[in-house]
Amino acid sequence: MQETRRAVLDALASGPVSGPEMAADLDISRTAVWKHVEALREAGFDIESREAGYALASSPEFGGLAVEYGLEAPYEIEFHESIPSTNARARERAEAGDRDVVVLADEQTGGRGRLDRAWASPSGGIWCSLLGSPDLPPAHAPIATLAAAVAVVEAVETVGVEAGIKWPNDVLVGEDERKLAGILTEMAGEHDRIDWLIVGIGLNANVDPEALPAGATSLRALVGDVDRRTLTQALLDGLDDRLGAPDSVLEAWTDHSLTLGRRVRVETQSETIVGEAVDVAFPGTLVIETGRGRRTVTAGDCE
Ligand code: BTN
Repeated sequence: MQETRRAVLDALASGPVSGPEMAADLDISRTAVWKHVEALREAGFDIESREAGYALASSPEFGGLAVEYGLEAPYEIEFHESIPSTNARARERAEAGDRDVVVLADEQTGGRGRLDRAWASPSGGIWCSLLGSPDLPPAHAPIATLAAAVAVVEAVETVGVEAGIKWPNDVLVGEDERKLAGILTEMAGEHDRIDWLIVGIGLNANVDPEALPAGATSLRALVGDVDRRTLTQALLDGLDDRLGAPDSVLEAWTDHSLTLGRRVRVETQSETIVGEAVDVAFPGTLVIETGRGRRTVTAGDCE
């Protein structure tokens, strides 16, 4: 968020504060103050004008500026009420040379999942794609996917939901292990460095489970509607922290794993591996004890 805009919001949040006072404190004209106040109102911030000055009464439930204000991680939020796919839009921004952007939407009309599946994205969800260029070699990119799964689990804990992770990145809840969130990572890079990385996260937040495929659930079904603004902030700040400390990810992932210790069947591009999942190794490889030796898989569909 632009620095002055943030300073105006800070002043309003601890208001009431008069226009001239803000102008003097921020060293901008009164007209500039008024323009900021109007732009914030247009973005859904409820700014009351009292005798003593302006004061922030409430922030919008969702939206770009609303999520950006209070976010610790330094991302620009590009918000859309409705968009085909936040990952597709993030790719456009990546190809235009932009970085440190989060594309966020209330609804997607062409959401994409892993293996080219469709991803149901009705209004009320948290559909977002973080575009960055983490300081990692491309071979380590899978750790970003695991980091995102950990960030989702830790974020939903803040609204009282205990979730687990099925390798590599399905976030599931309850005894019947319904899918609450999914992650789709895309990347471009050369042999030794990532040029851009997009971590797309779909979190079924304030949506009816009937609008989702069988086997999926939502926060609304589990705990009722949540404050998407603070939840998105927790998710993005958590993910940013994990991306900055990739060595911390595996331990946290293991703590939340639903896969380790279980008998699994993993379909890779070339074969099916069956056995007990015994470990996960950097940057996200599943280690399977097959009975005829240990096998490691870097990507695949796990059942
Ligand atoms: C999966 O198949 O489990 C991954 C689903 C990823 C969905 C998210 S929603 C935000 C972003 N935009 C997309 O089109 N897909 C990802």
